[in-house]
Amino acid sequence: MEKTNLLYEGKAKKVYETSDPALLIVDYKDDATAFNGLKKGTIAGKGEINNRVTNHLMKLLEQNGVPTHFVEELSPRETVVKRVSIVPLEVIVRNIAAGSLAKRLGLPEGTKLKKTVLEFCYKDDELGDPMVNEYHILAMEYATKEELDLISGYALKVNDVLSTYLKDLNIELIDFKLEFGRLADGTIVLADEISPDTCRFWDSVTGEKLDKDRFRRDLGHVEDAYHEILRRLMGE
Ligand code: TMP
Ligand code: ASP
Repeated sequence: MEKTNLLYEGKAKKVYETSDPALLIVDYKDDATAFNGLKKGTIAGKGEINNRVTNHLMKLLEQNGVPTHFVEELSPRETVVKRVSIVPLEVIVRNIAAGSLAKRLGLPEGTKLKKTVLEFCYKDDELGDPMVNEYHILAMEYATKEELDLISGYALKVNDVLSTYLKDLNIELIDFKLEFGRLADGTIVLADEISPDTCRFWDSVTGEKLDKDRFRRDLGHVEDAYHEILRRLMGE
């Protein structure tokens, strides 16, 4: 499988077409941005770590009944995935208040939520990915009711599978962001990545942040945190 032309370059990944119209190759970069691209930097080794962590977790999710776009890891930072058209929603799942939720509702970071919270944001950089609810999603036809129900069910399942798996590795899954796509026949699958860029991971014992918040908030030891996640998940 080889890359043909560059289809899309995002903030953290490049996506290439291949000789098979149904397959794409994702190439993860070390570039990091935050606050809708306002803050820029690089995190050495991030591309490789996010590729490997994402694939490891996507395989685990497939085994637990969540369909994903994952096909095959090609190299340390490249993966073959199924071509999808992305549903223009960021699906956020929260177990513990942190980040924008803590700020918006005036909660101390670390407040345990009595019930899992699901949020949707409309994917549009120019608008700053505004939060939307089911009414907006149906009115704007970002997804159908059937798709939204399926996506919500998958998101909660991902939360159950990952929370349980990570707990054994002394990692608390605080919150995370997912994206879904449609295959050519309309089937909804989990797409994009699941990595320290898109999740909040806190050490269950020390509470130490092991994710991109170290970059967003200039906490230092950013690379160490990414390596620690890789080590706990893959044993290296
Ligand atoms: P938030 O608290 O800033 O809304 O972030 C919630 C979760 O979503 C957190 O785990 C980080 C992740 N996230 C992304 O993956 N991409 C983004 O652009 C943002 C804002 C958050
Ligand atoms: N990656 C996103 C951006 O650049 C936001 C984030 O992860 O904080 O805006």
